[in-house]
Amino acid sequence: MGRIRPATMVARLFAVLALCVTSAVAGGSWSNGTATFYGGKDASGTMGGACGYGNLYTQGYGVYNAALSSVLFNDGASCGQCYLVMCDVSRAPAWCKAGTAVTVTATNLCPPNWALPNDNGGWCNNPRPHFDMSQPAWENIGIYRAGIVPIVYQQVKCWRQGGVRFSVSGFNYFELVLITNVAGSGSIRSMSVRGTNTGWITLTRNWGANWQCNSALVGQALSFEVTSTGGHRLRFENVVPAWWEFGMTFTSNQQFDY
Ligand SMILES: *[C@@H]1O[C@H](CO)[C@@H](O)[C@H](O)[C@H]1NC(C)=O
Repeated sequence: MGRIRPATMVARLFAVLALCVTSAVAGGSWSNGTATFYGGKDASGTMGGACGYGNLYTQGYGVYNAALSSVLFNDGASCGQCYLVMCDVSRAPAWCKAGTAVTVTATNLCPPNWALPNDNGGWCNNPRPHFDMSQPAWENIGIYRAGIVPIVYQQVKCWRQGGVRFSVSGFNYFELVLITNVAGSGSIRSMSVRGTNTGWITLTRNWGANWQCNSALVGQALSFEVTSTGGHRLRFENVVPAWWEFGMTFTSNQQFDY
């Protein structure tokens, strides 16, 4: 063992702190997985994606994001969740940046590639837990040339600036509500809408973080009752004003804790 450089010591200390904080929040344990990166140096190629968030900058998610393999993506139920990821130095000392960690938000699906075996290119095939991370996120934990690295990961609490946002799209009697900038669990278990002239109507997940209903809601102020995956229920009273139009986004002043 040579001398440990101060920078390395700081990095290790950070990792230990990250472990403590995370354990306190999530009480979780680490799982093994693998990670690659995609989408370019500025993460522009990670915009869009199977959660429906579109522009990740404007929707509050930023560039530290990842596409999850099917087993983690869970048909979109994991959209918005946050994961703390560390490169597994013990298994790949040459490819990992030791003593570092990064938190990423699940914003996309990494689709299976059945033409390739799951240990050689088909990283996102079942049953592999795999994170295809944005390059800026990846560069915190892995060496650029590595391509793929073993990781340990666990789900953690999400932190967001400002309140939960609702985007309404659709046509006539079909509303698609995209919920974004969700803190706490980051992901949604269930959601209902109430118009000025209606009772509560249960929404169903259509795709990613988009929830749908088939009701005449045009011209009415809309309230939402939303339960996070962690069980925190919030009511967003009249968060969408009566003058809403398809394509508009409205920001609430409430946020999830868990
Ligand atoms: C992760 O992999 C290591 C090394 O192969 C193993 O010792 C450990 O038990 C695994 N952890 C889990 C949670 O599967």
